[in-house]
Amino acid sequence: MMKSTGFARSGDKSNSEFFEIYLERLLEQRDHSGLTDMIGSIEALMITVEPGNSIKYIEELSLMTPYHYLVTLDAPKHLTHILRIDMNSPDILLREVKNPDYYDIFRSLNDLYPAGMQRPHSRYLGEILRVSDREHVLELQQAREFRFFSPESLATLDLPSNVSISKPSPYTHNVVGYMERTTDEARVYHPLGKCSILPRVQDAYEKAKELQAALNISDLILPIDHLATRVYSQNREAALLEYLALSSYYYWGSYDIVDQNSSTNVCKSVRNVPESASPAKVFTANNLPYCVNHLDRLPSPTETFVRNFGARLHHIALSVKDGERGNKENIEFVVEAIANQGKGFLLDVVGSREAGLKQVFSQASEYSALIIEYVQRYGDFQGFFTRENVALLTEAAGTQEVNITHPTTPPTTSD
Ligand SMILES: [Fe+2]
Repeated sequence: MMKSTGFARSGDKSNSEFFEIYLERLLEQRDHSGLTDMIGSIEALMITVEPGNSIKYIEELSLMTPYHYLVTLDAPKHLTHILRIDMNSPDILLREVKNPDYYDIFRSLNDLYPAGMQRPHSRYLGEILRVSDREHVLELQQAREFRFFSPESLATLDLPSNVSISKPSPYTHNVVGYMERTTDEARVYHPLGKCSILPRVQDAYEKAKELQAALNISDLILPIDHLATRVYSQNREAALLEYLALSSYYYWGSYDIVDQNSSTNVCKSVRNVPESASPAKVFTANNLPYCVNHLDRLPSPTETFVRNFGARLHHIALSVKDGERGNKENIEFVVEAIANQGKGFLLDVVGSREAGLKQVFSQASEYSALIIEYVQRYGDFQGFFTRENVALLTEAAGTQEVNITHPTTPPTTSD
């Protein structure tokens, strides 16, 4: 039986007594139930974009990440493009809604928020986790009061029928899916319609990869390091406990970023696998809720983001190979090359060799609203950030967040 307790704790943010007691109880029960043994690494990420935007987004991801375009599945309401690095890292299922008037539960989550509704179909849905016995995991999770889409609902949503998918979390709005696969089996997502390589997608992908190679950065950008979700202040502990109940991750620790009135909270796989195989999950929350902010007037970029977009994934962080190229640190070489192609970054690269790592945020993608973070670690540094870096990154991302007090009227579902 795998053991999820007893890991060294990092960070300096203290939690409530409730959290510490229930964290221990939850992990022990998860281990004893067999769920920790049955639930494995992150197999895939699911992202949806607006009609007409998936090719542009694939082009962007092909330049900025190690992902390759594999194939497209054509279902009634969505095209689902499969992007892959290799079988050692998660896939990306990039879904494009076909009809702008399409409406589903994921759109309804966007429509509730003034910035979310600007791109009503575009959001990160969640992760698919690999399991050894899908039926058993589903049965145990349902007995623990977690809710799942019915097979009929998954078919209506054009989501794969060989994956059991939870209802969106009330804390993060993300879903968790379970897919059964043995080590020697291929990853397949079915039935999502006719499978083919679309020439116009292949073309855009190849051009972006040629550019990536010409810029001499292809070998420097490594797989995903962590996925960072932003939640409301009051949901921080519940979001952590919920993800731990649904996954086989453990609580690594939390850092208080006092300058930004925010904390960064990290969960990692209990298995001895690198982040490239199963990215760390980071949850960021304001220290104080917005409703008391008029008293102290502290910076609150995280709470403002959540009020504008709703709880959701904020960024995908990719590792950059440690080393130097062209008399620059690799991360600076990569950022300069990509910035020269017209892609914006929110700040200069922050951090140092002495601090253990350097980091930077891209501007949010106009297709997914997701930010790409690059992180270069030196030597055997294990952390995900330094306090100074996170304060600067959070502040920079906060410049994107204005208080939207006059939301536009939600788009109607038909003309
Ligand atoms: Fe990050």
